[in-house]
Amino acid sequence: MTNTVDIAPIGLLSGKVVFITGASRGIGAAAARLFAAEGAAVVLAARSTEALQKIVTEIRAEGGVADAVTLDLADRASIRAAVDRVEELHGRLDGAFNNGAAIQQPGPLDTTSDEDIDQQFAVNFRSHWTAMTAEAALMRRNGGGAIVNTSSIGSRRANPALPAYGAMKRALNSITETAAVSWGRDGIRVNGITPGGTATEMMKAWEADTPGIIERVTAAIPLGRMAEPHETAQVAAWLLSDRASMVTGAIVPVDGGAGA
Ligand SMILES: NC(=O)c1ccc[n+]([C@@H]2O[C@H](COP(=O)([O-])OP(=O)(O)OC[C@H]3O[C@@H](n4cnc5c(N)ncnc54)[C@H](OP(=O)(O)O)[C@@H]3O)[C@@H](O)[C@H]2O)c1
Repeated sequence: MTNTVDIAPIGLLSGKVVFITGASRGIGAAAARLFAAEGAAVVLAARSTEALQKIVTEIRAEGGVADAVTLDLADRASIRAAVDRVEELHGRLDGAFNNGAAIQQPGPLDTTSDEDIDQQFAVNFRSHWTAMTAEAALMRRNGGGAIVNTSSIGSRRANPALPAYGAMKRALNSITETAAVSWGRDGIRVNGITPGGTATEMMKAWEADTPGIIERVTAAIPLGRMAEPHETAQVAAWLLSDRASMVTGAIVPVDGGAGA
């Protein structure tokens, strides 16, 4: 069973410039399409330049405003350069969806490799710290903005299958809350989302390594199915919008009830 509800855009993000990482596929690509349809000028970032350009072309064909910037989340300079590119393009930043991440090689704590721990630290945690500070500096120049970080249901409890991933996502929740408290007076709201099982390449990669995981994840979701990427993007869109003007420091589950 999939979600087929067709939701008409209402201009939720009209007039806003929004930067999106992990925009080449999955939740980030769905977010880029949705935010543009909701009136935002979007800047898409990831490593796969061709995939980004394809989405940019589609959005422009629909009358939207979109650009792509190649970005490696493992490289701090690359992240700062991407935010600089947003400034060059638009001179401002109103919203940022820090969503890109990599899955680790699934396996127990004892056998998680040093390389995996380092990669999870750099790509899934440190990148968001670097991105948020660069984004906040640009947002402050126009009186503030909103940031949404994609964490995971895997951050909420012990995570024996993906221990480094879970730890970095929990650390991300911490800096999300800290940034919300630190930057509230600057007019910058910072929130997180914790998706549960979502039908993307990341779940396919996990399934390829651990056959049966999609079935087990789905069985634990009270709504009885995984999320479609656009459903997760809807929550980020609302958090980035002015409708969420009093929401900051929240870590919002988007998991069909799996964490309840
Ligand atoms: N799918 C789920 O069930 C699920 C559940 C909980 C949380 N999440 C979270 O949701 C977010 C989106 O994941 P998804 O499911 O949409 O996964 P996905 O389809 O694998 O997409 C991941 C995105 O992150 C980008 N990325 C990965 N490594 C990068 C790097 N080093 N530099 C720049 N970009 C990088 C990828 O782009 P390139 O490869 O082109 O660089 C891609 O656009 C992630 O934060 C993930 O942890 C997903």
